[in-house]
Amino acid sequence: MHLHVADHPLITHKLTVLRDERTDSPTFRRLTEELVTLLAYEATRDVRVEERQIRTPVGPHTGARIASPRPMVVPILRAGLGMLEGMTRLLPTAEVGFLGMVRNEETLEISTYAERLPDDLTGRQVFVVDPMLATGGTLVEAINFLLKRGARDVVAVCLVAAPEGVETVRRELDDRADVRVVTAALDEGLNDSGYIVPGLGDAGDRLYG
Ligand code: PRP
Repeated sequence: MHLHVADHPLITHKLTVLRDERTDSPTFRRLTEELVTLLAYEATRDVRVEERQIRTPVGPHTGARIASPRPMVVPILRAGLGMLEGMTRLLPTAEVGFLGMVRNEETLEISTYAERLPDDLTGRQVFVVDPMLATGGTLVEAINFLLKRGARDVVAVCLVAAPEGVETVRRELDDRADVRVVTAALDEGLNDSGYIVPGLGDAGDRLYG
């Protein structure tokens, strides 16, 4: 598993406002979208491309490349929905699949309540988007779903990650998949309730609550 913490002053600035408890829902949604667009640039660094022959107004261009095969973007409902628009803005040709997962706030166990993905993901590059990587349970469960459908190349894009979650993803998936995690910040850790510290609270509630 490869971890990339996007280190950019604009990302830090936007994330700081996002973390602030005084930031209201409309601003939180807008900033999430803006942050994803910046993170998507990093996350798509290894997006697969194919050569194309085109003509510019000046003449033929043989080294042209376009993103292909179509990447897959999978937001994890509900908070991941807040990141979808920013991601597809940068990857307009992407196909979108959905996973609905919720973490029991007491036991921290994950349950999956919705799934809409193609049956066969063999050879596809998949971008999973979810603002929080806390214990890592949700992301591991999501990637397990994708692996069962044949995907092997997964990039997870999140806003804030905890070291515990990163470790879990590494431990559970390293021998089975090529996983990259791109995050705007790697925080201190988890509190007793499984919340990221300092984190930004419950992203789903702040986006849609
Ligand atoms: C949050 C978050 C992740 C998950 C992270 O979702 O959006 O999906 O928790 O926690 P984990 O790494 O410990 O699994 P939540 O379950 O609160 O659902 P929501 O998106 O509907 O708010």
